[in-house]
This record gives sequence, C-alpha cells and structure tokens, in this order.
Amino acid sequence: MIELLYRPTWAEISLDAVRKNLKKLSDMANPAKLLFIVKANSYGHGASVLARMAEREKLVSCFGVSSVEEGAALRKSGIRLPVLVLGSLYPFKTVVAAIRHKLIITVASPDAARQLIQASDKLQKEVVCHLKLETGMCRIGARRPGAVKIWKILSRSKFVTLAGMYTHFSSADCDPEFTRQQLSIFRETRKELEALGAKNLLYHASATAGLLNCPEARFDLVRPGIASYGLAEGFTPALSWKSRIVFIKNVRAGASISYNRTFIAQKEMRIATIPVGYADGYRRAFSNSADVLICGKRCRVTGRVTMDMIMADITDVPEARIGSPVVLLGRQGEEEISAEELAEKAGTITYEILTGISERVPRIYRK
Ligand SMILES: Cc1ncc(COP(=O)(O)O)c(C=O)c1O
Repeated sequence: MIELLYRPTWAEISLDAVRKNLKKLSDMANPAKLLFIVKANSYGHGASVLARMAEREKLVSCFGVSSVEEGAALRKSGIRLPVLVLGSLYPFKTVVAAIRHKLIITVASPDAARQLIQASDKLQKEVVCHLKLETGMCRIGARRPGAVKIWKILSRSKFVTLAGMYTHFSSADCDPEFTRQQLSIFRETRKELEALGAKNLLYHASATAGLLNCPEARFDLVRPGIASYGLAEGFTPALSWKSRIVFIKNVRAGASISYNRTFIAQKEMRIATIPVGYADGYRRAFSNSADVLICGKRCRVTGRVTMDMIMADITDVPEARIGSPVVLLGRQGEEEISAEELAEKAGTITYEILTGISERVPRIYRK
C-alpha cells in the first residue's frame, strides 16, 4: 500500500493497539458498557474502519459522533449499532435527517424536545433520544428543572423514546471536587426523574478522564475517546505519522533555511527535506522546535515549517539518504516522538495534534 503512494507521507494506524485499548477500557468499565467516541473521524484515525472493527469484534456497545453528517457516514459504512449524536441539532431539517439515519438524538432543551416530537409525528417514525444534563460544563444541556420539563414533554410522545440521560465533566482530569459537584447534580436529577416515573434510562457521564479518575461515575455507559487511541497513561498509542527524505543538501555556515530566515547555519550542515507541512497538520509552531526521527536519531526541524515541506538537520546522521524513513510522530528504534511532546511544542493538547492531521495524509491500517 505504501508503495502506491506518490508522496511518501502517511499515517499508520495499528488496529491491534485500538483493539487492546478498547478491551482494557471495557474491563475497567465493567459492568458499564463502552460508547466508543469516534467523532472527528475517530480523532484522525479513521472512523469507519475503527467503528467497523469495534462492531465486528463486539468490543463496544454503541458509538458517539458529533454531528448528523458523522453519524450518516457511519451508517453508510455499514454500522448497525446505536449511534448517539452528541451535538445539539439545528436547523429543524437536521432532526429529520437524524431520524432517517436512525441516529440517537441529544435533546438539550424543552424546545428541542418539542421539535423532535413534531418531526417524528410528521414522519410517523420512531426515534430514540438521550437527554443532556447541564451540570457544570456550560456547553449544551438542560439544567435540572429543564430536564424535568423535557421528560414530561417526551413522555407524552407517541414516537419518541427517551432512552438515556447524560452529562459531561469539564475537569475530571484536574478538579475532583468540581467533578463531585457535577456528579451530585446528575444523581439528584436522576432521582427526581425516577420519582416521576422514568424507567430503564441509560445513564452516562464519564469520558476518559472520568473513567480513569472517578470510578463512582461509571453508571451504564462510559464514553472514552482519547484512551481508545492510546493517549492516556497505560494505553498504547495507535497512530504513527511517517514520511521519507526526498531531498538532501549541504549548506555552508551563514546559509539561511526556509521562510523569513529564522534559522542561520552556524557551521557547515547537512539538511534533509521532508514532504510534509502545515497543510498536512504538521504545525508551523514546530518550526525550529520539534524533532523528527531519522535512522533512529532525533533531528531538529530547521527553519519555518512551510505548507508542504519541512527541513531537518541530518548533520550527525551521515547514513541518512534520499528515501530514508522519517518518523514525525511515533517510534523509530529506541526513540519516540509522542503526541504529548508535539502538543507541548505547539502549546496545545494531544487531541488537537491528532485531529489536526489533515485529510491529505493517507491513513494506512496495520493489523
Ligand atoms: C460529550 C463527550 N463525551 C465523550 C468525549 C470523549 O472524551 P475523551 O476523548 O477525553 O475520552 C467527548 C470529547 O470531547 C465529549 O465531548
């Protein structure tokens, strides 16, 4: 497959790593089931391939996506398990599309509940939804009185089934006290709904950080994203980003490299050019700061990252040749460039590094 690439830059995804991570999460969460978060193209790993594997091998019980488009794409790729759309739906026709694709809809306001009833009545089609409770994230979600209203509205509907209630922790990775407060609002609201007659709802609150740090918040489902892709302690990173040297030159002391002359050679140097740039998601912030791996050694990116190419210092790697493999993210020999390291260099989080690898980079799957 790699031999078929005209430009030798690609992301390699280990299906075995994802499988292992999902099994570990599943054991940890048991008896709660996994709602596998595959939004943003599975954080850049390829949602349809990973979701199909997870469904085929019975590793998860449902999926989470951010939009109807993402849910419809999963259905098109043959996914049959339940798919929850985590985002709030607007405009109205989106609800109709969600119903047609048999997606589970998030209802976060009484108005949205009424619209859902209208749409399902008009289509005469059954629809399943989960109620999103606001407990401290202030993104989407109804507060406790709104949640009660939603339950009352939906319980009168002929076609709409309220099948679950969930919330999202804002700081489960760093603020246990605030997480406990969110959890307590969630529990109180649950009690109130059950007192009103709500039965058999699926409750869920934890993404990766909640699952790892707050065992009492596992309920019926957990929603891990980042740990499934191996970016949490004890998990196996699934994605490596690779390329090959396409050009080598020797430069004299005083030569400047790339745009705006931010790198001036202090001595004679050997410089490799690698066909990856910020249009691939290799961020401009890596200019003069990130390393790549060549022949098992760390080589500094010299000068500005350009749209399609970067340069790296291979002065101390005499064995490097045109065609030598380059690792931008991942392992080579004893060395590793982690997503955490790149995120730190760019002043961001691993999520943004992974989801930022653009569509231009082909994804290749390793069993
Ligand atoms: C509602 C919701 N649940 C779960 C997740 C998964 O989070 P993580 O990747 O931290 O596990 C996200 C991610 O942003 C989310 O928005």
